[in-house]
Amino acid sequence: MLKDSIQNLLGQVREMNAANAEELEALRIKYLSKKGEITTLFNEFRTVPAEQKRELGQLLNQLRQETEGRINELREKLAESQEANAEKLDLTRTPDPIALGTRHPLSLVREEIIDIFSRIGFTVAEGPEVEDDKHVYGMLNFAPEHPARDMQDTFFIEKEIGVQKPTDVLLRSHTSSVQTRVMTSQKPPIRVLCPGRVYRNEAISARAHCFFHQVEGLYIDKNVSFADLREALLYFSKEMFGPETKIRLRPSYFPFTEPSAEMDISCNICGGKGCSFCKNTGWVEILGCGMVDPNVLESCGIDSKEYSGYAFGMGVERITNLKYRVKDLRLFSENDVRFLKQFESC
Ligand code: PHE
Repeated sequence: MLKDSIQNLLGQVREMNAANAEELEALRIKYLSKKGEITTLFNEFRTVPAEQKRELGQLLNQLRQETEGRINELREKLAESQEANAEKLDLTRTPDPIALGTRHPLSLVREEIIDIFSRIGFTVAEGPEVEDDKHVYGMLNFAPEHPARDMQDTFFIEKEIGVQKPTDVLLRSHTSSVQTRVMTSQKPPIRVLCPGRVYRNEAISARAHCFFHQVEGLYIDKNVSFADLREALLYFSKEMFGPETKIRLRPSYFPFTEPSAEMDISCNICGGKGCSFCKNTGWVEILGCGMVDPNVLESCGIDSKEYSGYAFGMGVERITNLKYRVKDLRLFSENDVRFLKQFESC
């Protein structure tokens, strides 16, 4: 019986083949491992009668040697064919194209805003996102307890981790803080744009986020008038949304401008006829603006009798919504490639 089994396995082993390293390992386990078929035969061998031991012992050893030999032979063959394949590697082949990224829609729009204003002499100034109370509110005529601070509630930074003490270190809620830095470090005439990220303490939804992006503008010189402001904003709106665009200014309030206004453009989706986007009014609000309050000029060391100026500030997300009709603000910061890819050709 044992003899038959040995002969049978010998037949199998002489025929065995492996297409890859995994198959070869499976064969090794099948025959030679602790529970393998050949090992099992060796265990059976202990019980054969003494007179058969010599013959069967020889046969069994032959079986084990042949199996090991065959497995080594197959291993070498596999290694050789791998090398041959490596030689077949075509190093001159054109590589797969590298997937190119796209510009973020907010970057596209920010650059466009800067481009439009740079054509009428504006340069760019940047400043820190982590600011102090003085630059964000104090120098901009926000009284310490003024409710206007609530309009721009932001995040205050604890000086010692875990210790909540009143602090004047905060995340800027508008880039007007950069304007105060420019006004205290440069002499008029000043004509700057302040692009950047700003923070507000808002619950996140499709229409509000705890951070967004602004481009604010500041122009200070002798005899700057509200008419100059209106003209600059009309020029911007036509360049951004098309020559047929109309603007209107509504009185508003900001602590740092007097008078202050909110600017609407004729709805660029329905052309001013009224649609769901403009809530059937034909107008959509895009920015805040006004003449720089003399108190602000004085607190920045600029003589308000000699100089006047205008300022404006817009949300880049808002302009992007109008240009590309993005309905949900959150898409801008989720980095979903399916969304970002749509701006490939812009
Ligand atoms: N800083 C204002 C805001 O963030 C915008 C603004 C800028 C309004 C300049 C008027 C003048 O809401």
